[in-house]
Amino acid sequence: MVSLSPLQGPSTHQLLLVDDSAINLDTLLATLENIYDLRVAIDGQSALDLIDSGYLPDLILLDIMMPDLDGYEVCRKLKANEKTADIPIIFITALDNDMDETKGLELGAVDYISKPFNPEIVLRRVKTHLELKQHQNHLQKLVNAQTQELIEAYKDLKQIHDQMLQQEKMASIGQLAAGVAHEINNPAGFIGSNLNSLQKYIAKLNEGIAFMEQTLMAMNDPETETQLKKMKRKLKFDFIQEDIDDLIVESKDGIDRIALIVRNLKSFSRAEDDTLKLTDLQECLESSLSIAWNEIKYKAKVEKNYQELPPIQCLPQQLSQVFVNLLVNAAQSIEDQGIITVNIRQKENWAVVEICDTGSGISPKNLERIFEAFYTTKEVGKGTGLGLSICHDILQKHQGIISVASEIGKGTCFTIKLPMDHEEINCKSSLLQKSSSS
Ligand SMILES: Nc1ncnc2c1ncn2[C@@H]1O[C@H](COP(=O)(O)OP(=O)(O)OP(=O)(O)O)[C@@H](O)[C@H]1O
Ligand SMILES: [Mg+2]
Repeated sequence: MVSLSPLQGPSTHQLLLVDDSAINLDTLLATLENIYDLRVAIDGQSALDLIDSGYLPDLILLDIMMPDLDGYEVCRKLKANEKTADIPIIFITALDNDMDETKGLELGAVDYISKPFNPEIVLRRVKTHLELKQHQNHLQKLVNAQTQELIEAYKDLKQIHDQMLQQEKMASIGQLAAGVAHEINNPAGFIGSNLNSLQKYIAKLNEGIAFMEQTLMAMNDPETETQLKKMKRKLKFDFIQEDIDDLIVESKDGIDRIALIVRNLKSFSRAEDDTLKLTDLQECLESSLSIAWNEIKYKAKVEKNYQELPPIQCLPQQLSQVFVNLLVNAAQSIEDQGIITVNIRQKENWAVVEICDTGSGISPKNLERIFEAFYTTKEVGKGTGLGLSICHDILQKHQGIISVASEIGKGTCFTIKLPMDHEEINCKSSLLQKSSSS
C-alpha cells in the first residue's frame, strides 16, 4: 500500500505529502518538487509506517478526508508520539467550515491549506512554517543551553553552600572542642598529679605496714600474731595491697589518655602558637619519629629514603604533629609486624613527604571519611578520630596537600606536598578565623 517516492530537490528540508488523491498529489509535487526533498504516502497508515521506519520529515502536508485512517487520526497519533510531536502539520482540506479548522488546530496542526490549491499560497505557507520551525528549534537550543548553564550554576552554588555548611559545622566543633579541652584540662591535671602522689604515699604506707608487721612478729606474741592474721584475712589485706598498685597504674593510664585527647582537642581548635620557621624537613621528621617511637618500636621496621632538600618556611610544631599522627596511624594499622617507609623528595616546586605502611589498608568506603573530624574505626579509648582532620587543617594552612592511596590487606600511603617557595603562611586556618570571628 505504501507508495514511497523520494524525490530530490535542491532544499535540505524534507516534506511528507499524505493524500489519497492522485490529482492533489500531482499538483503538490509540481508546486514543491524543485524546492524540497519530498516523500509521498497515499493513505494515513502508510504515512505512519514510513515515520515508524525512521523517516522524520521537517513538515507534513496532511489530507483530512482519507479512507480508514483520516487526517485527524494521523495527526493525533503523531502528536502523541514524543519523536514526532514537534513536526509541523499543515492540513489539506476541501472542508471549509470553521468547526473542522478548529478541530484540526486543537489537535496540534499549525495551519490549513484549502483545495483547490493556489501554488503561491502553498509555497508561502510551507516556507513560513518551515522558517517558524527553524526559529523554534534555534530557540529551543538556546533554552537548552541556558538550562544547562543554570543546572551547572546551581551545582556550583550547591557545592559552595555545602562547603559553607561544612565550615560552619567545623567552626562550631572547633569552639566546642576548645571549650571541652579547657574544662577537662584542669581536673585532669590535678587528678594526674594526685595519682602520682598517691602512688608514692601508698609505697610508703606499704613500707611502714611491712615494718610494723615485722616488729610485731619479732615480739613473739602468738595471740597478737593470730589477731593480726585474722584481721588481715577479714580485710583481704594482701589482695588490697596487690590490687591497689594495679588500680593506680590503670588510673594513670586513663589520665594519660585524657591528656592526649585534650591535646588533640586543643590543636584541633588551634589554641596553639603559630610561629613560622625555616625548617629542615628531615630534622622535623626525625623528631616526629622519636615522639612516635613508643607506638612504632614493637610493630614496625622503619625504612627511610631522604633526599636532601633546602629548609622550608613552615610551622614546625604543627608539621611535626602531622607526621606523628600519620606515623601513629601507620603503626596502629599494623597488626603484627610490618614496615613503615618514610620518604622525603622534591617534585617540581613541592617538598614531598610520604609515609607508607604495610598495615591493614582502608576500604574505599572508609577512605571517603577518614579526614572527617571524629571519624574513627578504632575501639573506644584508642582513637578520637581527630588525627587526620588536624593533619588536613594544618596542611591547608601551609597551602599544602595531603592525599592517600590504600589497598585493603596491602597497606596505606599518605603523601604530603608542601610548597617550597611560598612567602607567607595563612597562619589562621579558616576554622580559626570562623571560630574567632563568631
Ligand atoms: N595508615 C592507616 N592505615 C589504616 N587505616 C588508617 C590509617 N590512617 C588512618 N586510618 C583510618 O582512618 C581513621 C581516622 O584516622 P584519624 O587519625 O583521624 O583518627 P584515629 O587514628 O582513629 O584517632 P586519633 O588519631 O584521634 O587517635 C582511623 O580510625 C582508621 O580507620
Ligand atoms: Mg590517628
